[in-house]
Amino acid sequence: MRNLPIIALDFKSAEEVNTFLDQFDEELCVKIGMELFYQTGPEFIQSLKKRGHDIFLDLKLHDIPNTVSKAMEGLARLDVDLVNVHAAGGLKMMEEAKKGLRKYNPDTKIIAVTQLTSTTEAQLREEQNIQTSIEEAVLHYARRTHKAGLDGVVCSPLEAELISQELGPEFMKVTPGIRPKGAAQNDQQRITTPEDAKVLGSTHIVVGRPITQSDDPASSYQNIKESWLG
Ligand code: C5P
Repeated sequence: MRNLPIIALDFKSAEEVNTFLDQFDEELCVKIGMELFYQTGPEFIQSLKKRGHDIFLDLKLHDIPNTVSKAMEGLARLDVDLVNVHAAGGLKMMEEAKKGLRKYNPDTKIIAVTQLTSTTEAQLREEQNIQTSIEEAVLHYARRTHKAGLDGVVCSPLEAELISQELGPEFMKVTPGIRPKGAAQNDQQRITTPEDAKVLGSTHIVVGRPITQSDDPASSYQNIKESWLG
């Protein structure tokens, strides 16, 4: 996965995505989530690949180890750049996910979601019965992900520093919750600027609405790209 900001293509249809992408005349890193993939399927992934874009297929798999392994065998054939699972599925599930992926694909990176950035500490306690701080819970899942041999985690940029210190700078920290100075916060709670994300140890940033909802997506992207690459 190239080191460019990853644009979250949170659109309802392939047509909307294509209209959006037509505003760019360069190869991008893009994120396809489940809402789009469930509607457009593998064919749409192939059309994005043909345009030269790097793809993070953000399906957050979480099931019994055997099911996730078989699902990963299928995703391996799509030959995207990055896929993910939920670390909450456990060490064995993560190991099997990687095995399934590697059966047909030596290159695709695989990372795990630690805690969703929408999860608050109160929810952690009440719904998951986890009594630690969110940072400690995220670090715990990052350790398990590392132990399972995965390439990194999805986390908040505010947690990236702690993870970097313990698991090294190469372990991927893919971080949503990015807002350039002056941009609307929307529903994100724990945000940083692209510059700060870099300082805190993010290896990749995911940016959606500050680009997709901008009046001038191409120039918003360029500004974020410059801030991120420095
Ligand atoms: O529009 P915005 O920049 O907030 O988009 C962030 C993207 O990252 C969305 O696609 C969102 O679903 C995703 N994401 C997130 N927090 C996570 C995991 C994924 O915001 N923990």
